[in-house]
Amino acid sequence: MKKVLVFIMALCAAVGMLVAGCGGGEKKAEQKLLRVGTEPTFAPFEFQKEGSSEYTGFDMELIRAIGKQMGYKVEILNMGFDALIPALNAANIDVAIAGMSITEDRKKAVTFSEPYYTSGLIVMVNKDNNEVKSIDDLKGKKIAVQIGTTGEGKARSVADAKVSAFNTNTEAAIELKNKGVDAVINDSPVVGYYLAQGGAKDAKTVGSVMEAEDYGIAVKKGNDKLAADINKALAELKKNGEYDKIYKAWFGEVKK
Ligand code: ARG
Repeated sequence: MKKVLVFIMALCAAVGMLVAGCGGGEKKAEQKLLRVGTEPTFAPFEFQKEGSSEYTGFDMELIRAIGKQMGYKVEILNMGFDALIPALNAANIDVAIAGMSITEDRKKAVTFSEPYYTSGLIVMVNKDNNEVKSIDDLKGKKIAVQIGTTGEGKARSVADAKVSAFNTNTEAAIELKNKGVDAVINDSPVVGYYLAQGGAKDAKTVGSVMEAEDYGIAVKKGNDKLAADINKALAELKKNGEYDKIYKAWFGEVKK
């Protein structure tokens, strides 16, 4: 009887160790989490397809690929564009990818990865507007922008312009459509995508793309290790063709 008990106890201990062992194994396999902040009204970089809560777009695929390359599980968090830098600095997110242009001002607040896409601002007006032919014609006019963007900065530099800063790009575009403003200033590839997706029924661009802006992935100021890891992953994806694959999927041909 005693022997049986000892046997059962030994068995339990063995099973217990096995279970603990498995648990331990699971823990090891548990991936590190990369908390990614974005503002998803910026197609084709980050957006949600109608009726879907999933985040899609060039930036979203790129950061998922970077995360995978680095061995992280990627979690996307939706916030206001102007909330991204504060969220990084409060350590509520680890990285921000949001078509964010690398600017001298922002470089004071956060650390950027190497540039991953070259963009620039453009002016969009209603199709029936024959008066505004470029940004020079926006003096004293009403301009809609997304809050905290380089587009907002540009709009505020136009003499006597009345600038309405919206939380989302969607609202800025609707304001133009409703003729609440004369123009929208936003990133050229985003305006191009909007027009191609049906916006061209009512709107058009005027003038040419303003000075080039490079997009970077932002991390908390001084988190050089994470920035270096991201750069390494980005370089790897460029080398192995994954970056080109994602680029082609969203922009057609590969920019050389
Ligand atoms: N490139 C512009 C900027 O950095 C606009 C970015 C807006 N991004 C977004 N996900 N809404 O200010």
